[in-house]
Amino acid sequence: MFHDPDFTPFTPNERPSWRSTKRNFLENWPPSAYREDYFTLEGVWPLVRRTHYLTDPEMIEEMLITRTESFTRDFITVDSLSSTINRDALFFVEGGDWKWQRRALAPAFRHESLLALTPTFVNCAKAQADAWRCAPQAAPVDVMNAMSNVTFAVIERAVLGVTGAFDGGKFVAAMQESFAGMSWQRIFTLLRLPTWLPFPGSSKINRDMRYLYDETARLLAARRASGGQTQAIIDRLLAAKDPESGRSMTDAELIANLYGFLVAGHETSAVALGWSLWLLAKDQASQARLRDEARAIAGGADISGDTIEKLQFTKQVIQESMRLFPPAAAIGRQPREDMMLGPHKISKNEPVYAALWALHRHEKLWDAPNAFDPDRFAPEKAKARHRCAYMPFGAGPRICIGMGFAMLEMTAILATLVRDFRFTPVEGHRLELAPDFTTRPKGGLPLIIEKI
Ligand code: HEM
Repeated sequence: MFHDPDFTPFTPNERPSWRSTKRNFLENWPPSAYREDYFTLEGVWPLVRRTHYLTDPEMIEEMLITRTESFTRDFITVDSLSSTINRDALFFVEGGDWKWQRRALAPAFRHESLLALTPTFVNCAKAQADAWRCAPQAAPVDVMNAMSNVTFAVIERAVLGVTGAFDGGKFVAAMQESFAGMSWQRIFTLLRLPTWLPFPGSSKINRDMRYLYDETARLLAARRASGGQTQAIIDRLLAAKDPESGRSMTDAELIANLYGFLVAGHETSAVALGWSLWLLAKDQASQARLRDEARAIAGGADISGDTIEKLQFTKQVIQESMRLFPPAAAIGRQPREDMMLGPHKISKNEPVYAALWALHRHEKLWDAPNAFDPDRFAPEKAKARHRCAYMPFGAGPRICIGMGFAMLEMTAILATLVRDFRFTPVEGHRLELAPDFTTRPKGGLPLIIEKI
């Protein structure tokens, strides 16, 4: 079990503040969030609607699994996220449209299809390794940024079936800048103001968003013209049909989904990998154990579809990293009607969140909750846990469709990189959390990387 003060990167506020809403909304979750089953930010700010937060696995199970039909996505997530991902994407659609679209995409996420992607995961990691071999080794490297480039190369391949279809560097940079608008959109939504209001940097973000959607539309048109019929996600989107109405996706739905997969499919995995490398840099013993495992299982060969599932400790490191730093800090819903959830009365227009950041560090659920201990995820221990005590990918019918993809991808990339490089912290670096779309740190995560 390894502990470092950086693992608790902020002090919770006793009372919420607007400053924290903009800088790091997690500061507004009170100290009791880590001890009690439920909290609310009710009535603290005039004008702002009551929001409920769950940190009890039973109540979360009720919301996401047993009574899932009684909820939709919440308006705060929809309004603040749809400035980045269009509302026609799978993430937002509800009811019958969600059902057939999700079913049409499911084959792309079957285990065998994903195992076949292992060489893609490894080759994208090796391209990053080659770049690091050529760089001066004493200079700090931002591993968050590096992992965004690796996971974007992976998702480009999985979504489009090819790489180099467009300028990935420019696309990723524009995407990341666009996330900065989300904290403003959240404030506007909380104050019931229109989300199109200007804010510092908004005209640049609007230009970026236009570029991103125009590029996505161009990719779609090019694919249609070439008539491709591969296993790639783009071809499954083009072929998808609602079995009831027989309708295919409209252009708006296709573009929204294509862009949605490019964003959701790379940003979350990049953040989880960045935190994993940073945690391993702090805990050299776990880093050596992971390296030994990769060498013992794959030797000098590439990680393959046959060896990847034997990398048990690598997987546990990723799971523990997503416990301490879940890429999505919360999962939101809103009841269709006024209801009771456990002992709590919830009105139909009030958002309810599974508060993952606090759930994963809850005193009742975890020993030494702020310490890094990958052995918590040894199979027998993980099995004994409530299914909603740990849920970086969500739970229930709307669980992340990319969960299996992301776990294999991150395992292959982490094992490939840690086998050949040593990661150490940069002395004097102070961590500051700045969550927007995901739980990113402000200014990236610099580490020293040496070839071994
Ligand atoms: C570490 C990596 C990832 C994490 C932590 C993550 C987390 C999540 C979470 C928390 C949700 C919302 C679940 C809910 O509302 O109940 C979600 C939904 C989704 N994710 Fe992921 N995700 C990851 C990777 C991926 C990847 C690789 C893809 C695609 C290749 C993907 C595509 C999606 C989509 C399309 C949805 C919406 C699903 C629906 O509403 O039916 N995600 N993800």
